[in-house]
Amino acid sequence: MWRLKSKTNNDNLNTDSGKEYLTMSTLELNDISYKYNNAQTRAVSNAACKFEPGHLYAIVGPSGSGKSTLLSMLAGLDLPTDGEIHYDGESLTKLDLDRYRRESVTMIFQQFQLFPLFTITENVCFPMELQGVQPRDAKVKAEKLLESVGITKEQFKRFPSKLSGGEQQRVAIARSLATGAKILLADEPTGNLDVANTEKIMAILSKLARDKGYCVIVVTHDMDVANAADIVYQMRDGQLKEVSRLAGV
Ligand SMILES: Nc1ncnc2c1ncn2[C@@H]1O[C@H](COP(=O)(O)OP(=O)(O)OP(=O)(O)O)[C@@H](O)[C@H]1O
Ligand SMILES: [Mg+2]
Repeated sequence: MWRLKSKTNNDNLNTDSGKEYLTMSTLELNDISYKYNNAQTRAVSNAACKFEPGHLYAIVGPSGSGKSTLLSMLAGLDLPTDGEIHYDGESLTKLDLDRYRRESVTMIFQQFQLFPLFTITENVCFPMELQGVQPRDAKVKAEKLLESVGITKEQFKRFPSKLSGGEQQRVAIARSLATGAKILLADEPTGNLDVANTEKIMAILSKLARDKGYCVIVVTHDMDVANAADIVYQMRDGQLKEVSRLAGV
C-alpha cells in the first residue's frame, strides 16, 4: 500500500529543524540473492536484514563483494533473483516499481552526477518539476533545501562545474531530498572527497537520519565513514553480516 502520494510527498520537504517521521520507509530483506546472467556465483547471497527510518547504515566490504548489486536492488533497479524485499511490509514485486524509484528511494553517487548544463537551483528543481510541482514553488523549496545543506545564495545560479566537489555533493543531496523520498541510498558518496568534506557530508547524512527520520544507507570503503554510522554491515562474497551497532540503537 502506498503511503506517499505525489502531493503529500513534497509536503515532506520540511527543512525546519526538529524531528519528523511522516512516513515509515522501512526496507526488509528476506533472504535475498542476486545472480547475474551467465555468472557462476551469486553476487548477493541470502542477505537478510531490516533497514529502518531514523538510522544511518554503512555497508563495507572488499571490491566485488556485492555492495552495489545490493544497493541496486534496494533502489528497485533490479529485483532479487531469489527472496523478496518488502517496503513498509509490501513486496517490491507487488508495487509499481517506477513509482517506488521516483518517490520512495533516492540515490547519491561518488561522481555527484549533477546535470552540468543546469544551474544548481535548476538541478534541485528538476525532480519536483517532474512530479508536477509548479516551477515557482519548486524554486522556493529548492533554495530552502540548498540552504539546509550549507549552499549560499551567491552560489544558487552557478553551474555545478563552478563548485568544489564537496559543494557539488551537497547539491546532489539537496536534489535527492527534493524527490520527497525518505530512503536515501549512497554509493561511495565521499569517495572523491577530502577528509574535511567527507566529515561535512557525513554530518548532513547523519542529521537526516537521526533528526529527520530518513533511512540512510551508505556503501563505503572508508572506515571513518563507517564509524559515523549507527549500524555497520559487512559484505563478503555476497554475504551480508552485521558487524557493529551503536549502543541503544
Ligand atoms: N552486470 C554484471 N554482470 C555480471 N557480473 C557482474 C555485473 N555487475 C557486477 N558483477 C559482478 O558481481 C559481483 C559484485 O559486484 P558489485 O559491483 O556489486 O561489487 P561491489 O562490492 O560494489 O564492488 P566495488 O567496491 O568495486 O564497487 C562482482 O563479482 C562483479 O564482477
Ligand atoms: Mg560498487
